[in-house]
Order: sequence, then C-alpha cells, then structure tokens
Amino acid sequence: MTGKTLVEIPGPAGGRVLGNLQEFSTDPLRFLTACAREYGDIVRISPRNVLLVGPEHVERMLVDRNTDFVKEGPEARRAGRRQSLPLSTMSADREDWKAKRRRIQPAFGRELSATAAAAMRGQGERMLEQWRPGQVRDLQQDVSVVTLRLVTALMFGEEYTDSEIAEVAGMVAPIMELSASPVVLPEWLPTRRKLQIRRNLRRVERTLARVAASGRAADPKAAPVLHALLHGTPTPTPAEVKDELATLLMAGYETTNDAVVWASVLLARNPDAAERVHREAEKALAGNATGMALLGELPYTDAVLRESLRLYSPVWMTSRDAQVDVKFSDYVIPAGTTVTVSQWVNHRDPRYWKQAEEFRPERWLGKEPTDVPRGSYFPFGLGPRTCFGASLAAVEAVSLLATVWSRYRLRLAAPEVRLRPALALQPLDARFTVEAW
Ligand code: HEM
Repeated sequence: MTGKTLVEIPGPAGGRVLGNLQEFSTDPLRFLTACAREYGDIVRISPRNVLLVGPEHVERMLVDRNTDFVKEGPEARRAGRRQSLPLSTMSADREDWKAKRRRIQPAFGRELSATAAAAMRGQGERMLEQWRPGQVRDLQQDVSVVTLRLVTALMFGEEYTDSEIAEVAGMVAPIMELSASPVVLPEWLPTRRKLQIRRNLRRVERTLARVAASGRAADPKAAPVLHALLHGTPTPTPAEVKDELATLLMAGYETTNDAVVWASVLLARNPDAAERVHREAEKALAGNATGMALLGELPYTDAVLRESLRLYSPVWMTSRDAQVDVKFSDYVIPAGTTVTVSQWVNHRDPRYWKQAEEFRPERWLGKEPTDVPRGSYFPFGLGPRTCFGASLAAVEAVSLLATVWSRYRLRLAAPEVRLRPALALQPLDARFTVEAW
C-alpha cells in the first residue's frame, strides 16, 4: 500500500519523554479540540495514536473498514485500556463478538422499549414523591436509582432492593472514574482503584449469580435479556454471564444518567426551552396516551435530548487498534496504531454545525440535521458496533425529562457544572433547586 507514512501525519510534538500525555490527561476535551482545529482531519497525537476528525474518516473507521480494527488489540493491552469485564459483547472482537452480539441483541427490540416506556412513568413519579419545592436535589443520584431499578427490572425480571441498587451503584462509580487516558501502566499493576473495582465486582457477582439462578430466566416475557443470554447459542459460561450482565448494567446506567442530567443542565440554562418542554409534557401527560404513543407526543423533548447528546455526548471518544495497514486520505496508518475518534470534537465542529456551541433543539425539528454528514453525529456510535441500547436509553431519558419538567422547574444550585471526562462525560456538582411552575 502506498501513501504518506505515520510520521508524516501532522500533530503536536509534545515533550520528549511523555509526548502529549500530560496535555491529554489535564484536559482531554480541550487537547483533542485544539489538535483538530490546528492540524486538520487527521492528527498524530502520539507515536502510536492517531486522531481522526473528518466525518468521512469516522465513517470509514467505524463502518466501511470496521473489520480492519479491533477493540482489544495489543496496543490496548499495553496501554492498560483493557476492560475490567473482558468476556462481554462490548469487549469482544471478530467472530466471538459476532456470536455474542447475535445472542443478546434481539432482546433489545421494540418490545423492550415499549415495556420500558410503559414502566418509566411510574418510576419517574416514584422519584418525584421524594421531592419538595425548595429542596436542593442531586439529580445524578436521584436519576441513577430510577435507571437502575428500570434496567434491572427489564433485564432480569425483578426489581432490585434498595441495598442491591446501592451496591451496583458502588461498583460502577470506580470503574467510571478510571480515566480513559492512554497512560501506560502495566496491566498487572494493582492500583488502589483496581483493587476496589475487583472487590466491588465480587459483591455484585453474588447478586448477579442469584438473579441468573432465579426461575425468572426461564420466562422470556418476565426477563427478556437474561432469557436471551442464558438460553441463547452458544451457551455462555458462568464467567461470561457475569461479565455480560455487569456490562449491561454499567452501559445502561451511567450513560443514560449523564444524558438526563446534561439535558436538565441545558434546560436550566435555557428558560425558553424549559418552558416549551414543560408545556409539551404537561399536555401529553394529561392525555390518554401511554407507553410509546405518549413518547410520540413529546417531539420537542426528544429534540432536547438529541441536542444535549450532541453538546454533551456521554461517550466522548472511541478508540480501536488497526489490525492491518489502513489508508485514510493520503496516509497509511500501519497495523498496531491506535485510532481515536471523538464525539466531543465532531459534534461541535463549526464546519458542519451552524452555531455549533449553542443549544438549539429546533435544529432537530427541521431539515438541518439531514445536512450534516453521518460522521458528524454519533452519540451511540456508528456501524456494526452501534449501541443496541440506544432506543431503550432514549425512551428512558425522554420519559424522565417529561415527568420531571412537567411538574417542576429546576434551577442550578451551583454556579458552575464542571465536566469530568472519565469513561463517560460526567457532570460534577449538578445539584438543582426544585421549584413549582
Ligand atoms: C444515553 C445512553 C447511551 C449512550 C450515549 C451509549 C453509547 C454507546 C456507544 C457510543 C457505543 C459504541 C462504542 C464503540 O463504538 O466503541 C455503545 C455500545 C454499547 N452500548 Fe450503549 N449507550 C447508551 C445506553 C446503553 C444502554 C441502555 C445499554 C443496554 C442496557 C447499552 C449497551 C451497549 C452495549 C452492550 C454496547 C456494545 C455493543 C457492541 O460492541 O457490539 N448502551 N453505546
């Protein structure tokens, strides 16, 4: 294959020992944005790591040439990027991934979303029972209880007790705190955080084992996801069941919470949009429609969610390792290179988005979004490895936003909400004062 080589790709030089590691670790969002603005659509950010910016490159990596890349190549292992739950669909590659995804994905169809839509209103109302006007609430905390209750009920056919919910939440936090930074730490290095994660995982494993052994797994209606997993082909080993269930809990929990909280932060900062969500939700919830039909009556709330997934995409970067040499425009990226794309960078690229930094839900109600190339908006990924929980997440988030904002107006209690780009893009200090409309 001919073309310019890796060393010819433009990019920041960085320090002699650590390269750009420090800049990346201090403020990865700013670093990636600066790289894109300064060096263009393909940037060498370290001797073995390339950032792809152009939407056509994103599409090429995640869709057209996806089989040329793996999630867990030797580079990922060397950089300590390996997942804590290696036997899950999310961590698997090639034929193993295909079989795992085929086993579980069918359970995430329309029926699951419809069940979620039907259950969500009650769950949201239950959350609001604890709220009083004038209170300051930690929304992240409140929403996490709702999403965990819903996800465990949907997947496993039983609602977790409050102490089990607290246990799972305790497991997710330290994993999420693991920075996505490509810091080169040997995998075996027993950092304090890794030990804590292992301890938490063991506790949650016991809960998951009990769920897996419960009679509910036999009933696809009561526990669709657990049934698909345990009765699917190939039959999973107990270790696989544990990794798969724990991953689904995590994948379906933190990201959805972050999406709801970021949307609420944006609504609190944009009173006109908040008012519009309030009116739409109040009207829809007062009517007879339920489940998916009710969601159909919330187009503006849905647009608010899409717009906040654009500005604050919970998944803010995605990496793969090249398995073979792959050509991107004039350059040949050699096998073994880690290739990264960033939702944060592409979702705010002013070349493709009008008023890119502004919160404008209306852009999703007209023809504007069809103007942007596919690789400019990918909060749920693109191509064969797209998130199969996307519809479920949207149902949860839109229902919850409508339930909350129909009843209350939320005002930010802290002057600033900080961003923490950990495994997901978390809002810090997202506390709100509850006010009656
Ligand atoms: C707003 C909420 C969510 C966001 C933003 C989100 C985002 C994503 C993204 C970007 C990917 C692709 C990652 C990549 O290409 O490397 C992904 C994959 C995945 N998501 Fe989600 N997700 C959300 C909710 C959920 C839910 C509710 C579930 C399930 C309960 C879920 C389960 C998964 C799984 C299993 C994968 C791996 C798919 C594969 O590798 O084949 N996600 N998600």
